[in-house]
Amino acid sequence: MAQAGEDRRTRLEAILRESPVIPVVTIADAAHAVPLARALLEGGIAVVEVTLRTPAATEAIRRIRAEVPSIVPGAGTVLSPARLEQVEKLDVAFAVSPGATARLLEAARASPVPLLPGVATASEAMTVLESGFTLAKLFPAEPAGGVALLKALAGPLPELRFCPMGGIDAGNAAAYLALSNVLCVGGSWLAPSDAIAAGDWRRITALARAASELRGGAG
Ligand code: 3PG
Repeated sequence: MAQAGEDRRTRLEAILRESPVIPVVTIADAAHAVPLARALLEGGIAVVEVTLRTPAATEAIRRIRAEVPSIVPGAGTVLSPARLEQVEKLDVAFAVSPGATARLLEAARASPVPLLPGVATASEAMTVLESGFTLAKLFPAEPAGGVALLKALAGPLPELRFCPMGGIDAGNAAAYLALSNVLCVGGSWLAPSDAIAAGDWRRITALARAASELRGGAG
């Protein structure tokens, strides 16, 4: 079990180091999935988190897996063990949750898919560490305290490293990426819903390119 946990952590850390920014995308129409993934890749971003917030999400992930094999697909909004089981079947490379319930953490310890659990407080950070997780999503990053909160957590909890998400954009991403306990950031600003709906893939590629050029996270 310890070995399996180590393997999941190694895979997740490699994914979080793949790009300074993980695009968080919500896809309403599965037909948008492949051009969207290609637009992100074209801009230099090789990871994507597809949120499970729309009926089209699972089909979108399937299409990305089948047709854009060079992008690493993850599933977001994994709220329960049942959803984790669902994404295991989709063969995603990682799963992300906005928070961390005891049931979800327990299921993740037995899952082949590495989970990036969400935390927003020191107590939640201690809970995920107790369950053996050393990589977490700070969510919602800006409302929860942002850069100042992450600096404060680095003192007592140096072994926990973060991918902050929630309220991050091109204007504040660099301040997060400069922190010693941040590996990458995530956000929806690279794939705005109006650009997806309009099929404005060039705009998404330009946003991705600017994001991919941000300085990488902690060494
Ligand atoms: C989310 O769960 O929606 C993500 O963390 C992205 O947040 P954002 O839309 O504020 O970038």
